[in-house]
Amino acid sequence: MASEAGPISKVLIVVAMQTEAMPLVSKFKLVEAPAHESTFPKGAPWVRYHGNYKDLHIDLVLPGKDAVFGVDSVGTVSAALVTSFSIQTLKPDLIINAGTAGGFKAKGASIGDVFLASDVAFHDRRIPIPVFDMYGTGARKTFTAPNILKELNLKVGKLSTGDSLDMSPHDEEVILSNDATIKDMEGAAVAYVADMFSTPAIFVKAVTDIVDGEKPTSEEFLQNLIAVTAALDLAVTRVVEFISGKSISDL
Ligand code: ADE
Repeated sequence: MASEAGPISKVLIVVAMQTEAMPLVSKFKLVEAPAHESTFPKGAPWVRYHGNYKDLHIDLVLPGKDAVFGVDSVGTVSAALVTSFSIQTLKPDLIINAGTAGGFKAKGASIGDVFLASDVAFHDRRIPIPVFDMYGTGARKTFTAPNILKELNLKVGKLSTGDSLDMSPHDEEVILSNDATIKDMEGAAVAYVADMFSTPAIFVKAVTDIVDGEKPTSEEFLQNLIAVTAALDLAVTRVVEFISGKSISDL
């Protein structure tokens, strides 16, 4: 791992969906690591693309397809597993968790906005016992990257994570109490694992749907996924270009 002062050399991009990943794979000219070269255990559905871009070695990992239903393995369990194994085997200097999110218009989010998360929390781990309640749904600060924010002009907001695309009234209560602006299905899980292994992580999230709007979430999400992924990938490219040649303390 790079020291705080040394230049960043290895970046791990964690993405949940293939649709979100493929434009980045082509932009950075990454290639899929063949099975015989895989650092992942046999049987794991995780997928890794890698390559060099400017001064960086980039690994882009995704949890792959669910073995039973064949869809992208979105959600916290898969995200935590692939992040954990990737940190241990690839030893990144920095993690970028890139993905789509729902946004709250009451907090200023619009479709296509790209946010850098300042805090992360889970909203569906309600444990009404002292201290466990905070463990369950309390917000944690993310690694701060003021220069990325300044340079790239991204929006800043608190991110809330849960395993559902929709939002129950209980989820909403927690999300509001944590003052979140965006809502995803992986961020807090990636943050938990990154913190566990003392690896700085940033969260770049693009808004596909307005949670407190009129349209049904799944409809709006699917309608905007491709266009918003283009905005996400542009932002991630600019973040990677900014990071190249810098040290962690420059971010
Ligand atoms: N990803 C994109 N939109 C989302 C939403 N509304 N909730 C959770 N994850 C999302």
